[in-house]
Amino acid sequence: MAHPTQPETRRSRRERALASAPLPTRRELRARTQARAARSGRRHPPSVYLRRRLIVGGAAVLVVAGMVSGATGIASLVSGSDSAADGSAAVASGEAATGMPRATVLPAPAQTAVPLGADGTEAEAAPGGGALCDLPAFREALDSGSDADAIAAAGGAEAFRSAVASGGAPCIDLHAADRTWVVVNKQNALDPIDYWPEPQARAEGVERTSGGHMRADVAAALSQLVSAARDEGAGEIGVNSGFRSYDLQVATYRDYVGQLGQANADLTSARPGHSEHQTGLAVDVVACDDGCGTIEGFGGTPQSDWVAANAHRFGFIVRYGDGDTATTGYEYEPWHLRYIGPELAGAYASGGYRTLEDFFGMPPAPDYAD
Ligand code: DAL
Ligand code: ZN
Repeated sequence: MAHPTQPETRRSRRERALASAPLPTRRELRARTQARAARSGRRHPPSVYLRRRLIVGGAAVLVVAGMVSGATGIASLVSGSDSAADGSAAVASGEAATGMPRATVLPAPAQTAVPLGADGTEAEAAPGGGALCDLPAFREALDSGSDADAIAAAGGAEAFRSAVASGGAPCIDLHAADRTWVVVNKQNALDPIDYWPEPQARAEGVERTSGGHMRADVAAALSQLVSAARDEGAGEIGVNSGFRSYDLQVATYRDYVGQLGQANADLTSARPGHSEHQTGLAVDVVACDDGCGTIEGFGGTPQSDWVAANAHRFGFIVRYGDGDTATTGYEYEPWHLRYIGPELAGAYASGGYRTLEDFFGMPPAPDYAD
């Protein structure tokens, strides 16, 4: 899909720039596939787990056979793993994937009339409630494009959240792809579907195993997070995957489907137009001790524990929590950090929220509409 505001040559240049990931070894790919299967197995009866292991194993054999037989197989393997999601082969394969299923733009998210707190009880209405959008100072801050100013003008993050969750702030668009409060999930596609964030940057002083671009403000926040983790004794954190274009997500999702089947792929990979990675606000992180590990190896590391407890200080949340699949639609991803800004992340953490859907009083999004 051609990006509407970028000449093809510039877009191609950027895709190439993003594509600096080394190809994973067959051993790494096998370990990732097994780790993913084992993770899923913890949540399914043994018969389902064994069936999935067989499917995954068979798919891996087929894909490895494809790898031996030519470059197409290599592209499939690379783009099928999160750790190589910025990989050049994946980009090439995504550019060529014109026949892939396309996501459709879905209607605006329905917000619950009565906001629920993290414990499921009714939350307090925001000061000002429905009047927020009528406040000139708030509208001015919102229109300025500064998320932090808008949140401050609303009376702080909790007041902002509460106004949104109560349905009393219709001027705050949870679909706006360039806002830190955007909610992208299986029920809410990006609009426009090929949204492309600018400006982008890499996080300075942070190791990476891929192209590692993300929104520039997110990159700056991630640099601070990584530096703090290091200073506080948690060890080194690296970037595995940041921004992924619509076309790259086409290739990534397609290869997960090829390896796992659609039902299992949908638990771990977003369909094109439904990935937070396309907003530039999401980043997959890894632990880098003696070299950087895999995303599947991140959970249970000191870095992962530190991130779970401290990411909010830098504006990030762990977006897909353990046991939250019924709301998020995805299995636990301790490595997938989503930037919502330090103000909202602080309210998220102190309110004990586990999902962005609950935070903003939105319905669960376990499945796609189609
Ligand atoms: N792994 C997350 C859900 C994505 O593909 O965006
Ligand atoms: Zn991710």
